[in-house]
Amino acid sequence: MALKSNFEQILSGFSKLSYLERLSKLEEAGFIRHEDSLFLAGGGLKDFRLGEKFIENVIGYFQLPLGVATQFRIDQKDFVIPMAVEETSIVAAACKTAKWVRECGRITTSVSGAQIIGQIQLAKVANFEKFKALILEKKSEFISLANRDVAASMVRRGGGVTDILVRELIRPEGGCMAVIHVLMDPKDAMGANIVNQVCEYLKFPIEQATQEKVTMCILSNLVDTKITHAQIVLEKIDQDLAHKIEEASLFSELDPYRAATNNKGVMNGIDPILIATGNDWRAVEAGVHAYAARSGQYRSVTRWKKTGQGLVGSFEAPIVVGTVGGVTNLHPTAQLALRILGVSGANHLSRICAAVGLVQNLGALKALTTVGIIEGHMKLHIKNLTLGAGAEEPEIPYVVKRLEEILGLNKRISMSQAVEVLQELRSQNSPP
Ligand code: MEV
Repeated sequence: MALKSNFEQILSGFSKLSYLERLSKLEEAGFIRHEDSLFLAGGGLKDFRLGEKFIENVIGYFQLPLGVATQFRIDQKDFVIPMAVEETSIVAAACKTAKWVRECGRITTSVSGAQIIGQIQLAKVANFEKFKALILEKKSEFISLANRDVAASMVRRGGGVTDILVRELIRPEGGCMAVIHVLMDPKDAMGANIVNQVCEYLKFPIEQATQEKVTMCILSNLVDTKITHAQIVLEKIDQDLAHKIEEASLFSELDPYRAATNNKGVMNGIDPILIATGNDWRAVEAGVHAYAARSGQYRSVTRWKKTGQGLVGSFEAPIVVGTVGGVTNLHPTAQLALRILGVSGANHLSRICAAVGLVQNLGALKALTTVGIIEGHMKLHIKNLTLGAGAEEPEIPYVVKRLEEILGLNKRISMSQAVEVLQELRSQNSPP
């Protein structure tokens, strides 16, 4: 589907449009097709039989809102980012911050390394050095076998098993545990199934060659062999703000309590894309957090530093995703999300995720160090309280206005206040 070159113009004022207008603008700009609009407006996926291909005991679907973040320019290319998420303000903050970055800076991304990791555990080996020598002697043979018998289609796509390493872990009682790492390039697949299959397949030849017992085989989510990077450079920004963001960043570098929340905010940008594109967000979460703790202390996966008149931010962590295979292929909404993104493959998707995570982090730090987090949440929160209290359409503007006044006075609002305001209004309107 060809994108209109003036799509930015077509999508301007996107958040102010009605639901159907948003769909038709996305169509007009070339991000979705008319049948996609009909699919989305019709409520998306409904056929339970597809769900049964994914999990057991299906009783229905759990619907999350799917939004799009506009304003993103990443590596000099414009993107509309599909985000499936329930949390208020995430999409709005992404758009607002991406606009800011687009106006006074740039986002660049890259991936270093290509290998994912499979682990083969041998809980106890008699002599580690001897074991290691035997494995390394047979390494090329094991790689060829795995590539021929299990990963042939991956090899045809330019990937496959590339290396085998042996690690020693000391057991608590002093004996030795051996762990074999099987490194594999899964190309555009996430690679979990194939690397698990390779490890299980190698169990027999390893046992035969070493006369030791393999105890388990499974991929590792700590993929420190394939790291996604994103960088934001803001050329010229208010120096007081830059200083505040740098201090906030230092806080999350030094303190694991803050780092956890900082990284949660980063994942606010990443998880919604993973969900929208049918990727395994638990795997990415596990990898990002394990990587954040690699120094022995849990730290932030982002850093912000003042430079001259500007500010530079960076993200670094594994984001292993796929654009082929599994749910990504089968789920029509995931296919639609990938079409909207127009990514060239798994690495590209992972770079987009890193960029959006870093933008989300910048938005959060800007809000936290200036107006605070509540302000951004309040507009929708007031609306939700109003609806939650049971206000009907004509009553909504009055209740919203009163709640805004109460918030201005008390600095907080609650559902019971929304209910009181509504009762007050209804008593005023009811005949004596
Ligand atoms: C809330 O979902 C995310 C934040 O807590 C992130 C952060 O504190 O950096 C605002």
